[in-house]
Amino acid sequence: MKQYIFLVSLLLNAYIGYTQQVIPFAKPQATTQTFSWKDINSISFSNPALKNEVDVFNAFMKRAGLSALPVVGDEANSIRLELSAGNESYAMEKSGTRLIVRGDESGIFYGLMTLLQQRCSGDDVIVLSDAQPAFPWRGMHLDVSRHFFPVSFVKKYIDILALHKMNTFHWHLTDDQGWRIEIKKYPKLTEIGSQRKETMVDKHFNPYVGDGKPVKGYYTQQEVKEVVQYAADRHITVVPEIEMPGHSLGALSAYPQYSCNAKPLEVLTIWGVSDDVLCTKDSTFLFLQDILDEVMALFPSQYIHIGGDEVPKTRWKKCAVCQGNIKKHHLKDEHELQSYFIRKIDAYVNSKGRSIIGWDEILEGGLAPNAAVMSWRGEAGGIEAARQKHKVVMTPGTHCYFDHYQGHAQSEPLAIGGYTTVEKVYSYNPIPDSLTAEQQGYIMGAQGNVWTEYMGSSDHVEYMAVTRLCALSEVLWCGTKKPGYSDFVQRLKKHFEFLDRMKIHYAPSIYDVQMTHTVSPSKVNVALTSTYQDGLIYYSFNDPHILVAGEKFVMPFDIEQSGILRAQYFEGDDAPGHVFEQAFEIHQALGAKITVDIPASKYYNSGGLDKLLDAICGQSPRKNAEWLGWSGQSPTFNIDLGRMTAVKEVRVDCLSEIASWIYLPEGIEVWGSVDGKTYTSMGQKSAAELKTDIEDGMDAGIVIDPQSVRYLKVKVNCAGKIAKGNPGEGEDAWLFVSEVMVY
Ligand code: ACM
Ligand code: ZN
Repeated sequence: MKQYIFLVSLLLNAYIGYTQQVIPFAKPQATTQTFSWKDINSISFSNPALKNEVDVFNAFMKRAGLSALPVVGDEANSIRLELSAGNESYAMEKSGTRLIVRGDESGIFYGLMTLLQQRCSGDDVIVLSDAQPAFPWRGMHLDVSRHFFPVSFVKKYIDILALHKMNTFHWHLTDDQGWRIEIKKYPKLTEIGSQRKETMVDKHFNPYVGDGKPVKGYYTQQEVKEVVQYAADRHITVVPEIEMPGHSLGALSAYPQYSCNAKPLEVLTIWGVSDDVLCTKDSTFLFLQDILDEVMALFPSQYIHIGGDEVPKTRWKKCAVCQGNIKKHHLKDEHELQSYFIRKIDAYVNSKGRSIIGWDEILEGGLAPNAAVMSWRGEAGGIEAARQKHKVVMTPGTHCYFDHYQGHAQSEPLAIGGYTTVEKVYSYNPIPDSLTAEQQGYIMGAQGNVWTEYMGSSDHVEYMAVTRLCALSEVLWCGTKKPGYSDFVQRLKKHFEFLDRMKIHYAPSIYDVQMTHTVSPSKVNVALTSTYQDGLIYYSFNDPHILVAGEKFVMPFDIEQSGILRAQYFEGDDAPGHVFEQAFEIHQALGAKITVDIPASKYYNSGGLDKLLDAICGQSPRKNAEWLGWSGQSPTFNIDLGRMTAVKEVRVDCLSEIASWIYLPEGIEVWGSVDGKTYTSMGQKSAAELKTDIEDGMDAGIVIDPQSVRYLKVKVNCAGKIAKGNPGEGEDAWLFVSEVMVY
């Protein structure tokens, strides 16, 4: 009998689970009791404290174009809210004609968010659910320094978090590109630090191109209070971030006396990290304590984020005060000086009953006694901190950086780089296997980070953040009990309608066509797939009119000439995603055997050597993993074409990105062989010859008198030391190669 009941409940769960339209997933109850929205006409609550939850719920109902539920006494046909003990958890139950939602205040709020989404889905049946989040830190971050966003948008962002049951808003308020919070004791922080004269256009680092448009913006203390209250009403804690000792040019442009050399400084107009950081002189700490006093008065959060990431030690190395502090406090080096800095701030914040959290660099030189760590450079910092019994929030770039590309780079708006799809986010488990059960207990949760260098508008922020936030919310609510990606994507599709209704933007990139391809000499075999199977993929070759000129995709197919493949997923006439676009360069060495005498740098070798013979040239600006990099070294590629081949030209696709120290090659040499033992020169080009050759393109080539060979050696000469006046002057130049083409 017991087994039978178990089986029925499993089946019921599966059935009801499928119809439950909510993100993050909330476990449906194994019950045969059903409820219809037609039976609900009002709402009531057991405790006046719950009025706020009802007000927020009703405001969302109205935003969705629905009528607010009138508040009544404990009456029939109502949603009845009953306060009970809980830990952000809720349970629903049918009692006569009433739908009871029981939980603590947060839990009841989340129950209402579940009901809101269900109501908006149009399903008349209400699925009763229970839910409790797997993690207590369910965070989303927003950088308002690189681009400033008004209070109205900050509130909308908080609404988006609340609708997905996130509970922490990490507000990145200060950086090298602007200071954004009023501090009454230091008015110049906002008078000067909140302004910059312009912003770099796209990635025009070198030569630098600015847009000529002044930027200014900050939040008054009154506005901050409003935001903190608005968030609290939605069960969200706002954690402010005041960056130190690096990323501090906003502050130092206003008060340069707290830098090492006290020279005038300006807010940065380009992206990147300033060498000017806060000096470790005593007055700096008094300055920071004053700022933190005002910040702690505004933000009731237990944690104050103090940054701590990416601190260049250049100035400290040359500063008498900083070197004096290293000696005086018996520190080993500048890393321990950074640790000294953070420990002082930790002690101060602790003295006010609060705790600091910082990026994982705060581990370097020793972790401050009570600091929590936000692990962004992968999970290693978080793992180390948990082993040292410190609290951790996981935000690894691989899964939690929502400033990365989320689809094929060619069809996405310009982003900083990376490739973090919804599926990747969904796959995330914030608990590393390598930790013991006790150490795992230090992982508070995870957070999505939204750095806004390449997000100039609030719509764009939503585009980058929202779809991936949906996946992250489920990671954080369900933990190891996620219902699975295929279940999630079905709900996500429907959830997009909810987002439309709430006027929230999102990336539809999950609808985009994905491609895999294999290569063989002079041809590419392509397979196209889509996440959803409810429609059809159409494609075209060298023709932008996909539907008109294109064909329905049926089978993997061959491409035997260079050109551009385009494809798109259609449901009827509707194409919800982007056009997929991929250029192919067809040549004779596709898929050939390749080795190299000097391996590529471990940092720029993600696809391996085969990437150099895969028909795909890299993009500039760099967007994908196509590029292999060498620093100060000149690789020779050995290619076995597998058969005697008439070769008349060899080209190498290279990158020029001077701001990142990447230079075009200074020469190329090619040798051929019939037996792989005796090689004869087939041609070479000097730096000067290449310069004229590659002016209008990135690929460097050599035309050869046609010769039949099986083996080739192609040597590409790296540019040597970087010339004076350029970023990285005197350092080794990088050589980046994406394809070696043989015609
Ligand atoms: C970071 O992305 N620099 C924390
Ligand atoms: Zn100094």
